Amino acid sequence: MINIAIDGPSGAGKSTIAKAVAKKKGYIYVDTGALYRSIGLWVARKGIAKDDKGSVIAELGNITLELKYVEGTQRVYLNGEDVSDDIRTPEISMYASAVSAIPEVRAFLLDLQRDMAKKHNVIMDGRDIGTVILPDATVKFFMTASPEGRARRRHKELLEKGIDTSYEDVLADMIERDKNDSTRDIAPAIAAEDAIHFDNSAEGIEQSVSEMIEIIDKVIEAKK
Ligand code: DC
Repeated sequence: MINIAIDGPSGAGKSTIAKAVAKKKGYIYVDTGALYRSIGLWVARKGIAKDDKGSVIAELGNITLELKYVEGTQRVYLNGEDVSDDIRTPEISMYASAVSAIPEVRAFLLDLQRDMAKKHNVIMDGRDIGTVILPDATVKFFMTASPEGRARRRHKELLEKGIDTSYEDVLADMIERDKNDSTRDIAPAIAAEDAIHFDNSAEGIEQSVSEMIEIIDKVIEAKK
């Protein structure tokens, strides 16, 4: 199977680029952040505090997650309910970041992610795909962009979804989330040693997509 890993901080453009690459190459795009977000949503709905680790861990036994693909688009099901849209709020972003620092949560999601990669050609987007989930991935990318550029992109996405928020709030949340995600003890969001660093600040989407496909094709060809 072909397994492409894309890691990097939030808002770097991973999902936009990965979706387009998946479409062109016929791979399945796996958004692993949706899994952490779904757990975040569950505990938020239960009224559990983000930092109440014991209660979060205790809830894992009550959670079943499934990924399904509807016309090529990933949908995530939390105990049978499609929560793909509900997990995209700023509140749930912060919950996701907090629960993702809990080792039991990461262990809980490990098999689901690895199974997808075992069964399908995937391009998988996350924080620890190249370092932990798929250490033998065909190609690993670590995508970055300036914090301001990332916050602008995320702010635009939220406004388009009808979520009213300021650029300053988005930037502040993003900086806090990056700090949580990159400094935590377990599976921090860092580049794998063999990852290709991909700066997505300046280029347009089309150019980044074709550049990435070129790299992937070269590696696959060289491995033949
Ligand atoms: O990619 P995202 O913004 O939807 O991810 C939400 C949070 O989940 C993010 O702040 C960190 C966490 N996450 C993670 O720890 N590991 C992953 N593979 C994906 C996401």
